[in-house]
Amino acid sequence: MVQLIQWRDGLSVGHPMIDADHRVLVDMLNSLLNSLLENHSDESLASSLDGLMAYADQHFAREEAAMRASGYPDAAEHFREHAEFARQIGAFKSKYDAGDTMLTLGVMKFLRNWLTDHILTVDKRLASHLNQGG
Ligand SMILES: [Fe+2]
Repeated sequence: MVQLIQWRDGLSVGHPMIDADHRVLVDMLNSLLNSLLENHSDESLASSLDGLMAYADQHFAREEAAMRASGYPDAAEHFREHAEFARQIGAFKSKYDAGDTMLTLGVMKFLRNWLTDHILTVDKRLASHLNQGG
């Protein structure tokens, strides 16, 4: 199986719930890429994209609940990143539904870059706050 993102220790933020969610997201992205490379039907790719969007929403909600519960000072900025991601992926999905399937490799690259950048910056900052009992 081709890996879009190879899980590595450097991607761990050191918080069990957040790391577990991120591993699921990485697995979902890797299998989405493989479905794409194996020429799965447009319907099956669209449903994988829906599944990814739904899981990302649940994951963001878990992080946002942890931010609220701990009075996280950088919550507003972090919420904005999640909202921007949801907006972007929603826009890709709309284009996909409209028949613009050539977009998909670009989408995969966007998803990989967004997730790794987000994990390595804002999620690491959040995890260190949560781990300090904040
Ligand atoms: Fe996050």
